[in-house]
Amino acid sequence: MERTLILVKVDGVQRRLVGKILSRFEAKGLKIAGLKFRQFAREVIEEHYGEHRDKPFFPNVVGFMTSGPVCAIVLEGPEAVSVCRKLIGQTQSREADPGTIRGDLGISRQFNLVHGSDSTESAEREIALWFQEDELVDYTLCDEQWLDD
Ligand code: TYD
Ligand code: MG
Repeated sequence: MERTLILVKVDGVQRRLVGKILSRFEAKGLKIAGLKFRQFAREVIEEHYGEHRDKPFFPNVVGFMTSGPVCAIVLEGPEAVSVCRKLIGQTQSREADPGTIRGDLGISRQFNLVHGSDSTESAEREIALWFQEDELVDYTLCDEQWLDD
């Protein structure tokens, strides 16, 4: 079983899409292991996007992601990292496939609604950044045996 970090970004919250986006992941079969909603500190956002620190878009992304509340979610499931990346679609929403979250709901690159960890290593780092260990919940869903093989 794998865990991944998902963020419904500021634009997703402002467009009232938190429920719709979360329901895509739930419907797929992923389990919520952690969830919080708040305006996060600049330090958290800068650390989260640390790999992009030297890119020209970094200040814009940090400014945008600190401008309002974000919903941070840890999802769990078989190959959760790659499954969620596929559901999210590619970075430029205009080119994201229909059927993906970005492909169906967005038309921007910067304002692309949702973040998903890009590898198991990133997931581990990001989950530790956004959640304390005791904020993650271990439990069993009644249909779990029907969702993995
Ligand atoms: P990146 O990690 O490349 O994309 P993804 O979210 O698909 O993993 O980039 C992080 C975020 O930075 C991206 O979701 C939106 C923003 N961004 C820009 O604003 N302009 C750009 O040219 C790129 C590549 C990303
Ligand atoms: Mg990325």
